[in-house]
Amino acid sequence: MLKGKKILLGITGGIAAYKTPYIIRLLIKAGAEVKVILTPSAKDFVSKLTLSTLSRNPVLTDLFDEESWANHVMLGRWADVLLVAPLSCNTLSKMATGQCDNLLLATYFSATCPVVVAPSMDEDMWHHPATRQNISKLESYGNKIIPVDQGELASGLYGEGRMAEPEQIVQMLTDTFFLPKPLSGKRALVSAGPTYEPIDPVRFIGNRSTGKMGVAIAKELQNRGADVTLVLGPVREEFLLPGINTIAVNTAQEMYDACHDRSDRSDIIVMAAAVSDYTPIVTAEEKIKKENDTLNLELKKTRDILKTLGKEKRADQVLVGFALETNDEKSNALKKLNEKNADLIVLNSLRDEGAGFGLETNKITIFSRNGGEFRFEQKPKLAVAKDIVDVIIRLYYV
Ligand code: CTP
Repeated sequence: MLKGKKILLGITGGIAAYKTPYIIRLLIKAGAEVKVILTPSAKDFVSKLTLSTLSRNPVLTDLFDEESWANHVMLGRWADVLLVAPLSCNTLSKMATGQCDNLLLATYFSATCPVVVAPSMDEDMWHHPATRQNISKLESYGNKIIPVDQGELASGLYGEGRMAEPEQIVQMLTDTFFLPKPLSGKRALVSAGPTYEPIDPVRFIGNRSTGKMGVAIAKELQNRGADVTLVLGPVREEFLLPGINTIAVNTAQEMYDACHDRSDRSDIIVMAAAVSDYTPIVTAEEKIKKENDTLNLELKKTRDILKTLGKEKRADQVLVGFALETNDEKSNALKKLNEKNADLIVLNSLRDEGAGFGLETNKITIFSRNGGEFRFEQKPKLAVAKDIVDVIIRLYYV
């Protein structure tokens, strides 16, 4: 997919610059053409000779020397994508605020191509309000942000701020800009995360869902061109979701209302949320005191969102549900597929190692209404999301 694509790589001054020769190798191996711009401080972290050898192009560093002027306008027009990796705190701030004191910045401000950045900095810098604000500004300019990783940092501390690995960067670049867009013009609705059912002002009934699987599906649908709305329960992690219309909800009733309101104008509906099946009949107005030895809570069933949308489903809509099971997995999943009138049901069994809430991986089998069964190995949730969206496209959009 990268064959013949022109990638302009901007490298800024940071330890993670040592990973950039590997990024270039991956891009060249995939058939891309690569040109490299170094900021003045990046020169201390990675050698021009290595970069020019691997990219097969001279490395650009200065706006001009005694004899020539680097045409930053044409560089930005030559490129299909400008990738800035690593993006330092300093360059981020300049990109956010319009300061233009080197060739990379001049190219950035004049680029007509899409821009994607892979930030890299120490955890405290990454969480500083100024950095958060600068990242939001870049997003508002339409730039794509590759999320940072957690791990050992140059300072010796452990935390968030590491630049994503080269493979992830190249994958995200490919998925975001060069993947065919068979879902363009389609509207998708995704539910994700848990719901919290209030018992009193401080307590609730909830579950361990992190929302990661549903969020990964929302992003993947967006990568394939869909216009995505995500109805997201109360998750602990903050997700970067540029371009996805995200509606935050707390309770099963709120999730029902948000999904039901939008289902009619959706072509693809994926209900990945772990919706609470029961909610307290009464929510105490004041904090419940521990006066008695036992406490009985009376619960009532919540509305089944997937089932309602299944009843109201139009023939041109694709409805996908999940089934999280601990036993009789296949028959329970098929029962849900039928009873909820879904087109596809994604089964994950808690008996499978590497599947379930809170994990980075999942192991799924997809059952289709017309008897199809698609089994997949245990994979990271992003790859699982790709498999699910691939099945949707293969069955309904080719
Ligand atoms: N679901 C929903 N609304 C609910 C409960 C579940 O939309 N009130 C959806 C989930 O998002 C999922 C599917 O229904 O796509 C199956 O959820 P699951 O919890 O596995 O099954 P339940 O229908 O709740 O049945 P049970 O808990 O008895 O297995």
